[in-house]
Amino acid sequence: MNMASVGILFLFFIVIRAQSEGKTFVKVECKTGNVGQYGQQSMLDCVVTTTEEIKDPKITVVAWKKKGSEDALDETLLVFHKGETTGQPGYRFAESSWNDRNMNISLLITNTTMVNSGDYKCSVMTDGGDDITETSLGVTAKYNKPTIRSIPENITRREDVTLSCSSVGGYPEGQLRWFDEHNKEWTASSEMEAELTNDGLFKLSSKLSLLKNSISSKYTCVVFNSSGGKEDEVTLEIPGTTTSEGQEREKGSDQSSKIVASVVVIGLLIVGLLLALLIHRWWSQRGHVVV
Ligand SMILES: *[C@@H]1O[C@H](CO)[C@@H](O)[C@H](O)[C@H]1NC(C)=O
Ligand SMILES: *[C@@H]1O[C@H](CO)[C@@H](O)[C@H](O)[C@H]1NC(C)=O
Repeated sequence: MNMASVGILFLFFIVIRAQSEGKTFVKVECKTGNVGQYGQQSMLDCVVTTTEEIKDPKITVVAWKKKGSEDALDETLLVFHKGETTGQPGYRFAESSWNDRNMNISLLITNTTMVNSGDYKCSVMTDGGDDITETSLGVTAKYNKPTIRSIPENITRREDVTLSCSSVGGYPEGQLRWFDEHNKEWTASSEMEAELTNDGLFKLSSKLSLLKNSISSKYTCVVFNSSGGKEDEVTLEIPGTTTSEGQEREKGSDQSSKIVASVVVIGLLIVGLLLALLIHRWWSQRGHVVV
C-alpha cells in the first residue's frame, strides 16, 4: 500500500468512527450552574435521555463521583450496581424511591459544606447504551450577624478609639462597611481583612479608628456578600456624645427663649389692657364734661 491509500483508509476510519459516535442512543443531561447553600441540601440535577429506538430503557449502573483536584483520585459517592445502591453517608438519589426505570438520576447532598463545591462525574449504563457526563456545584454561605467592640471598652472622649467589627461563616469573600448616625459612610477610613477558616469559610474583620474630638453617637457595621447584597448589621451606641450634648444645650436655650417670648406677650397684653382701660375712662370723663 502506498501512502495515499493509507491516508484514504485512515480518513474512512475517522468518518466511520465519527458516525458511530454521533449515533448515541443514551445521554446523561445535567442542569448547569448548580448552586448549593452551606448547611442545606443541594442537588445535582441530571436525567438520562434515550432515543425513540430504545423502548422502556432499564438502567444497569449509575456511578456518581467527585473529581479529585490535580493528582488526587476521584471519590465515589453513590453507586447503583447489580440492583443495589451503595454510597457514602450524606449522598443519595434525589428521587426518594428511585429504581432502575426512573431516568431521573439526580444526586442529593443532604448537608452541604465547602468540601462539596467542585466538579462531578456521572456515568450511566443502560440496556440500550452508556454515557458519562460532568457537572459542577458552587457553594455559597451566608455571613453571620457581625459583632462589634471598642478599644478601649469605655469611650471617654478624652482619647482616640478603635472600633472592631467581625463576621464569620460566609463564602465567597464579602465586605464589611461602616456608617455613622447620619448614615454617612466611613468605610474608606477603615481597614478590612478576610481570613479563610478551617471550615473553608471566610472570617471578615474590620477596624475603624476614631479621633476623640469627632466621635459620632452611633456606628453601624454592615456585612455584604460577594455580590454586594446586604446580609446583616450591628449598631454600637456611644453614650454621652458631644453631638447629643450639643443637642441638649440647643434644646435648653430653645426653651428659655420660649419663656422670654411668652413673658413679652403677656406683658404686652397687660399694657394693652391698661391702655384700653385708661382710654375708656378718659372718654367717659370727657363725655361727662360735654353732657
Ligand atoms: C429529579 O428529581 C428531583 C427530586 O424529585 C426533582 O426536584 C427534579 O426536578 C427532577 N429533575 C428533572 C429534570 O425532572
Ligand atoms: C447576596 O445577597 C443577595 C441579596 O440578598 C442574594 O440575592 C445573592 O444571591 C447573594 N449572593 C451570594 C453570593 O450569596
